[in-house]
Amino acid sequence: MRFCNGSLVGSSNAFATQDVNLTKKRQPAGTREPAGRRVSESRTEMVEVVLPQDANVLGNILGGRVMHLVDIAGAIAAHRHCRSHVVTASVDHLDFRNPILIGELIVLKASVNRAFHTSLEVGVKVFSENVLSGERKHTTSAYLTYVAVDAEGRPIPVPPLVCETAEDRRRFRDALARRKTRLAHRYKRTP
Ligand SMILES: CC(C)(COP(=O)(O)OP(=O)(O)OC[C@H]1O[C@@H](n2cnc3c(N)ncnc32)[C@H](O)[C@@H]1OP(=O)(O)O)[C@@H](O)C(=O)NCCC(=O)NCCS
Repeated sequence: MRFCNGSLVGSSNAFATQDVNLTKKRQPAGTREPAGRRVSESRTEMVEVVLPQDANVLGNILGGRVMHLVDIAGAIAAHRHCRSHVVTASVDHLDFRNPILIGELIVLKASVNRAFHTSLEVGVKVFSENVLSGERKHTTSAYLTYVAVDAEGRPIPVPPLVCETAEDRRRFRDALARRKTRLAHRYKRTP
């Protein structure tokens, strides 16, 4: 089992992975570190049929409806990873490459790319699916950042991410560069 941990640079793998025992250890109450969670534990697929009320006059799903579903699918993956309340902190750039038509399925695949301290990046890939032919088209990709919060809305630590595949590790690596860019552009509170 591999545990993605960006703070452990210097291991034999340039991108620093560490074998860990994921079995729960007994720790005094209040000092327990969140246990690592595998990417597959929070991976989410959501499917809906596009209905007329979701569409514009051309019969294409509205962009705002896609954004809503992207946020829901991403939030489910974040909830499954954190098992806590989460809020959406940011959504990166979104392109709509192909229309999704009334009667087609919209398929959303969400997975956690990287867990940071109190935040995590979730990638959501959106496809259209023709119910008769089964043809799928990639229509949108989005990266969202969620922050785990307590009942008062204060940020709390998120469990580390356990990467299982080469693809998980590639996404984990790439997420760090995106975080740097988005934090450089983040809204700054006025004092
Ligand atoms: C997101 C929120 C909890 C951050 O609170 P904050 O007091 O600014 O917290 P911090 O500066 O300590 O940041 C907490 C984490 O959020 C991340 N973060 C904050 N703003 C971010 C942004 N715009 N993009 C990406 N990450 C962001 C920080 O990097 C930090 O992550 P880390 O602990 O993993 O390093 C707070 O701004 C909030 O509640 N926003 C409203 C969320 C909401 O209601 N969303 C629904 C749509 S309105």
